[in-house]
Amino acid sequence: MSSTSKIRKAVIPAAGLGTRFLPATKAMPKEMLPVVDEPAIQYVVAEGSRAGLDDILMITGQNKKAMEDHFDRAPTLEAALEAKGDSKKLESVQKATHLGDIHYVRQGEAKGLGHAVLCGKQHVGDEPFAVLLGDDFIDPADDLLTPMIEVQQARGGSVIAVMEVDNVSAYGVIDPGSADTSAEDGVVPVQGLVEKPAAEDAPSNLAIIGRYVLHPAIFAELEQTAPGKGGEIQLTDALEAMAKKPTEEGGGVHAVVYRGRRYDTGDKLSYIKAVVTLASEREDLGPDLRSWLKDEFVPGLS
Ligand code: G1P
Repeated sequence: MSSTSKIRKAVIPAAGLGTRFLPATKAMPKEMLPVVDEPAIQYVVAEGSRAGLDDILMITGQNKKAMEDHFDRAPTLEAALEAKGDSKKLESVQKATHLGDIHYVRQGEAKGLGHAVLCGKQHVGDEPFAVLLGDDFIDPADDLLTPMIEVQQARGGSVIAVMEVDNVSAYGVIDPGSADTSAEDGVVPVQGLVEKPAAEDAPSNLAIIGRYVLHPAIFAELEQTAPGKGGEIQLTDALEAMAKKPTEEGGGVHAVVYRGRRYDTGDKLSYIKAVVTLASEREDLGPDLRSWLKDEFVPGLS
């Protein structure tokens, strides 16, 4: 059994209202916004699937039916494409249904990320699991989850991905203590975590990006976590408590420093950058898009 084969479950919180993309998200979940021609959420599920996470629990809310339909078979559409002999489109439609077993549970009330993760307690049970946030878009050419899973299996406790950022107050931020954050293996023991600190109070510029591999002891911690920043139950606060008890069962937190490409598809500008970047790297669209950008678009900029 490979060291990564033990972790198969991923929890994907997807109950947010997507207010930053209104009115596009008035009647459609923000997770379904296309990044080129696949919904943003499909990239996240595929990222998990590549790392062996094939049991996926989506934490959903109202307005999320399109997401369930997307990951389900579509017999009428599939039959129509088959009858036309359009095997390429048929394959693209079926792709989302082959990524893993997808389950759904509703959050009921929007009480924060920690509460959303806690909704996965029964499904996850007593095993380490991943949490993947849909707004964080990791370049499909990179594999961040596999090293995170390996660190969790080797060191126990919980593992989070962090990245150097300029705007710390938009993120959970770690205190790496005196650890060398430029270490070759990119693994840093976490001394503490704080959710969305003011820039002057931030313990570092290493921000949590939305990839976590958590010990199931996090559930008991979340049950006791009082509402924090914004009146919400924060996953960061529960992890802070776990970081403070490294010798207890399931305690201790390590950070994997990610140096690859990440986009925040929950933010309009960054979403547009993700679409343009990925499209420009595609074989079918890239050459035409790049020459249009270079020859017509950029020269027209003043
Ligand atoms: C959440 C977490 C935060 C993390 C961020 C990453 O915040 O609470 O710690 O840094 O995701 O995207 P949100 O962006 O949901 O406010």
